[in-house]
Amino acid sequence: MSTFVVLGAQWGDEGKGKMTDFLAEKVDLVVRFQGGNNAGHTVEVGESQYKLHLIPSGILYDDKINILGNGVVIDPEALFKEIDYLEKLGIRVTPDKLLISDRAHVIMPYHRSMDRLNEKSRTNTIGTTGKGIGPSYTDKAARSGIRICDLIDPAIFKKKLKENIKEKNELLVNVYKEEPLDFDEIFKNYSNYAEKITPFVQETSVKLYDEIKAGKKVLFEGAQGMLLDIDYGTYPFVTSSNTIAGGVCTGTGIGPTMVNGAVGVAKAYTTRVGEGPFPTELTDATGEWIREKGGEVGVTTGRPRRCGWIDLVILKTAARVSGLTNLVVTKIDTLAGLDKIKVCVGYRFKDKVIDYFPASLEDLAKCEPVYEEFDGWGEEAATAKTYEELPENAKLYLKRIEEFTGVEVSIVSVGPKRSQTIVVHEIGESE
Ligand code: GDP
Ligand code: IMO
Ligand code: MG
Repeated sequence: MSTFVVLGAQWGDEGKGKMTDFLAEKVDLVVRFQGGNNAGHTVEVGESQYKLHLIPSGILYDDKINILGNGVVIDPEALFKEIDYLEKLGIRVTPDKLLISDRAHVIMPYHRSMDRLNEKSRTNTIGTTGKGIGPSYTDKAARSGIRICDLIDPAIFKKKLKENIKEKNELLVNVYKEEPLDFDEIFKNYSNYAEKITPFVQETSVKLYDEIKAGKKVLFEGAQGMLLDIDYGTYPFVTSSNTIAGGVCTGTGIGPTMVNGAVGVAKAYTTRVGEGPFPTELTDATGEWIREKGGEVGVTTGRPRRCGWIDLVILKTAARVSGLTNLVVTKIDTLAGLDKIKVCVGYRFKDKVIDYFPASLEDLAKCEPVYEEFDGWGEEAATAKTYEELPENAKLYLKRIEEFTGVEVSIVSVGPKRSQTIVVHEIGESE
């Protein structure tokens, strides 16, 4: 598999950052194709811990090319903050290592304001990260967005910014009764960012195509997860991009025949940050126990994550919509110590048991999870170095996941460190 995508198979925070870092060792390029700095990917290397939001996790290696594709939305302020953060930790972030698509859309300060105001005016708040993601994609779809190629051309930027500020000020002042935006201040600030960003900007679709044709290995790094996908997630409690494998093509400018595999990352249980339905949520002491043991706090917003049992209906849906070729199961160590562990294998809905995720949230609310119960395992899970060394009950659990989803569990993660990773079947080796 010379090109493959690593995707979240649940509601995000499955450990994609750790797995991207682990799998990146064997590739030449790491490419983000959607989302922005709403993501929070924690990677532990040796004794160091890195928290990445926008920049691909491949940046931690000195010899990988990292691309922010056209499908990503880029907040220049957040980008340079992250670059500074990484450089202070000794990670080089230079234009030969980080390439930014000239077609990517820019998150402007008014997108962050609109994100906040939209949330305030909703009857059902989504609980967004407040980073301006939705409003930036809204402008993209409305064809009024500012792209990186516009930002770095002073005359075009001036014209587009003027149009946008006029439109946003009408909304801000007349509808939201807020202070108007100051064109001069934003123009000055963002012209500075434009100058700083220019050396990183490229026609990344051509670069990527040429590299793949030359036989280079590529890992596409997903952000968020299947159920936050704008089409297949728990709409409207989703993010504003396509987080499923299909997003790779539109978000980087290569065709589907150039993507050889799709690796779904799933936690051994389920978590969710923000609002929206969650059929297997545990609002009791067990949920609290998992949150505490798993350190389930959002990397981007610091919010506690909601926790619940693993839901195989979700994983089966992820396998279908992204054509998963492999599964990675993380945080097997977190569940260690529980006497019994439940696994959702269907939803009871209108006298039937279904194994797919319904579109309508009203239907979903009527779904009752059907559980199978597994015996728990002990703390020895965290020190297992091979599949054989894993506790027998953990192996039975993993077998059930494979059997239900029809996708091979290729990697098992038993701790946050690179070294706490068990490869059951190699990914990205053949071809
Ligand atoms: P991402 O958004 O999918 O990259 O995931 P996050 O980084 O937001 O959240 C996953 C958290 O779990 C991070 O703090 C990781 O360091 C940690 N983690 C990843 N895999 C494992 C694992 O197998 N066991 C434990 N205990 N922690 C893990
Ligand atoms: P990673 O890549 C978990 C959630 C937010 C909110 C919804 C919409 O770390 O897995 P947005 O700001 O995108 O408009 O918020 O999506 N959300 C995430 N939840 N992990 C993420 O990223 C997320 N990115 C967005 O909490 O419910
Ligand atoms: Mg995260």
